[in-house]
Amino acid sequence: MNKKNLKVSIVMGSQSDFKTMKLAKQILQKLKVPSETKIISAHRTPIRMYKYASDAEKNNIGVIIAGAGGSAHLPGMIAALTQIPVLGVPIESKKLKGLDSLLSIAQMPKGIPVGTLAIGEDGAINAAILAASIISNSNPSVKSKLRSWRFSQTKSVKKNPK
Ligand code: RP5
Repeated sequence: MNKKNLKVSIVMGSQSDFKTMKLAKQILQKLKVPSETKIISAHRTPIRMYKYASDAEKNNIGVIIAGAGGSAHLPGMIAALTQIPVLGVPIESKKLKGLDSLLSIAQMPKGIPVGTLAIGEDGAINAAILAASIISNSNPSVKSKLRSWRFSQTKSVKKNPK
């Protein structure tokens, strides 16, 4: 594995998740972190999921961001198949507003962790920032991009409200 150029892989259970997960992609593009996006469903495409997770290390993936809604088993199932860190984004579901997704992703039983982010867009954005931060441990150029990005975020906060 080429540890210097690890990519972030963004996967999601359905096309309908992309309106949320595309925010993660945009952040990674801004931070110049190599990434890919894929639709992989634990229940609708279980063989695709198995193959993806089993080959992830060989494919130079450093962090996996998995977005899923409802019973949201995708992040946990992927984490069970690879040692690459998995960050789960609970997608806001129609009926329970993402509480189902959040609890499902966060409540992984001990032994197979999934780092769980906030429900919906905030979660997708923070997953990308966190993934970039993990990648930056072995990629100085991402470290410096992340530093500047955080600096400009800090500068953008006004001292006084108008
Ligand atoms: C989950 O079911 C997906 O992650 C998605 O959030 C949810 C609904 O999927 P669709 O019915 O919109 O395809 O697997």
